[in-house]
Amino acid sequence: MGSPVAEAGELKAGVAKPAGARSKPRRKSKRHGKAQKASPQQPLTVAETEAKRMRAVNPAQYYRQNLGQLGFGDPEHALVQTIKELMDNSLDACEAMMILPEINVELIATEKRYEVVTNKTKDGSVRTFPIFKVSVEDNGCGVLRSKVAKCFGKVLYGSKFFSFKQSRGQQGLGVHAAIIYAQLTSLEPAVITTKTESDPSGYRVVLKIDTERNGPVVISTDEVKFERLHGTRVELMVAGDYTDKVEYFIKELSLANPHADLAFKVVKEPNSEPKQLHFKRANEILPPQPREIKPHLLSMEPGALLEMKSNDLCCKTAKQFLTRHFVRISEEKAAQLLKASGIRQDAPPKEIDVERLLKAAREGDLMRPPLDVLSPIGEEALRQSLRRMYPDAEFIGAVAREPWSYRGVPFQVEVGAAFGGQSVINDCDKVRESVFKSRVIRLGNKCPLIYDSKDCLLYKVVKEINWRNYKISQDEGSLPYAPMIIVVSLISTKVPYIVPGKFAVAYHEEIREQLRLALQTLGRMIYAFISHRQRQEHERHRQSIFQIYAKEVAKDLSYFTGIDEAKLLEGLLESAKHRKPSKTKAEAEPAKKPEPKAESPPESKKKVAEVQAQSIKAVEATTSKKAKRSLHEGLRKQSTLEQFFG
Ligand SMILES: Nc1ncnc2c1ncn2[C@@H]1O[C@H](COP(=O)(O)OP(=O)(O)OP(=O)(O)O)[C@@H](O)[C@H]1O
Ligand SMILES: [Mg+2]
Repeated sequence: MGSPVAEAGELKAGVAKPAGARSKPRRKSKRHGKAQKASPQQPLTVAETEAKRMRAVNPAQYYRQNLGQLGFGDPEHALVQTIKELMDNSLDACEAMMILPEINVELIATEKRYEVVTNKTKDGSVRTFPIFKVSVEDNGCGVLRSKVAKCFGKVLYGSKFFSFKQSRGQQGLGVHAAIIYAQLTSLEPAVITTKTESDPSGYRVVLKIDTERNGPVVISTDEVKFERLHGTRVELMVAGDYTDKVEYFIKELSLANPHADLAFKVVKEPNSEPKQLHFKRANEILPPQPREIKPHLLSMEPGALLEMKSNDLCCKTAKQFLTRHFVRISEEKAAQLLKASGIRQDAPPKEIDVERLLKAAREGDLMRPPLDVLSPIGEEALRQSLRRMYPDAEFIGAVAREPWSYRGVPFQVEVGAAFGGQSVINDCDKVRESVFKSRVIRLGNKCPLIYDSKDCLLYKVVKEINWRNYKISQDEGSLPYAPMIIVVSLISTKVPYIVPGKFAVAYHEEIREQLRLALQTLGRMIYAFISHRQRQEHERHRQSIFQIYAKEVAKDLSYFTGIDEAKLLEGLLESAKHRKPSKTKAEAEPAKKPEPKAESPPESKKKVAEVQAQSIKAVEATTSKKAKRSLHEGLRKQSTLEQFFG
């Protein structure tokens, strides 16, 4: 028997049927040329069978089946992702209100278990995970009672998708994916309690998402007491595999949002002792509020522009269409663009030739979108944040580039680093004794990106930099070997994520270039710091050598000058103590407790050793007989040894 596909092809071509195929060729409908309904005896063609299966898929059904794309592929990822999505929304809601965020996160393991079939376990094929009660409460703007059910119960429903404004959320998917995952694994509904400023009491909605029709199923609604003046609490029951990633995520979120107060409580096993962490805010300064802008003509794909002009109902003329819907297009600019693309100014928008218009926009000197619409972390705030996270770091630095744009979308990059110190070492991977690999913290709109780092532009650019130019050892194309935390932050009205789960940033030449320049500036600061530290090391060594020989020098001086030897020794040692290392112009913050030997990367360690060896020789040389004589001569002219050596 022929394959179903071959069979269908043969029938279409009118070739003789293979054995076993139906006896009569299908008749066409007279009116529409459609195949007539098959009688029960007649087997269907492949195309007919396929046609029977065809139906529209709604986004809730799609994501229920592809939760992995949103970060809910397995209990470990899903637990972090749930917290990420809820906390992102909380921070956005606080930013909308321009209020200092206060967010409480609770993660309590319950007795309930979630079982999955797996071939990972040796003793059986079923693995069980605890069901966690996750609760995230914020002091944000809250949600209007009339909107709660849709905001949490309809996939791709939200306030951010259509706005060209920097925010952590972009799609209208995050919290819905968490709710779908929760109901799939625990069978429990979501509980949302919210209160707006004007609402006299809190409002609680218990709901599930009906994925078959992509809409909320409201189980109950109540008026309840809500402790805060405004805010939202989302409670979910989700299957999870608790790992350190959860704590890391909250720590990094706190780093990216120094003005936020984040309290975290976790009970990892049912009835076990809770662990509590409190990331207090590093400063009380609200970052500037991001501004909403219209899209830039250059950010439009031709197809999207075509659809937009075809569906436009509010503009009578092409000129109006351009000035009303796009940023940076004045009346004059619109006239120029239309002239260049051969379109009458008073022609209806439908007559616009999108390809010619976009060509004219690309060739004309269309201004970049306004760049002061973003809300960066800020260099100072990033430094404060790093200092709070890594209090014993030897070097803290941050660099913010001026805002720029990729394909008509404004963006800005900021980078920071914490170098050396035990707290930094604790967060880095140990390669071998005293050698550590740097850790990269990636931020997209002030939110940590947790997975898929290898595909992420922010990560790739860190590896592209030649850190050896900055006295840090590195294998080509890999992360530098140094106890160092590198923060790479990208903010934009639209961060170009690779997948909807927002794990990694896609490649754009403009973003890459800005990142490269920022990291190079940071590299120069680290270079200045390492050089400064090496000089300090050198100086300390010189002093220690000096102390060794001071006794002998004091003895000789006493012989020549007749001054008491003990007094001279005391004076010499005192002089050596006050001898200051040469100053540096490094922008680096001074180290708190330098422990250079333990944390030095191998190359810089080698260099320090070389410099030390040279200095030993130099000082030893000065103690030769000839040098001693010149020392005495010099001392007659110089009042202190510091001046003499200096
Ligand atoms: N804690 C909250 N406070 C106020 N509004 C909220 C809160 N959580 C969710 N919302 C509302 O619900 C909407 C849907 O949230 P959801 O996380 O699904 O999408 P999003 O944040 O818009 O985008 P993304 O998919 O990128 O997260 C949000 O746009 C917001 O309007
Ligand atoms: Mg969201």
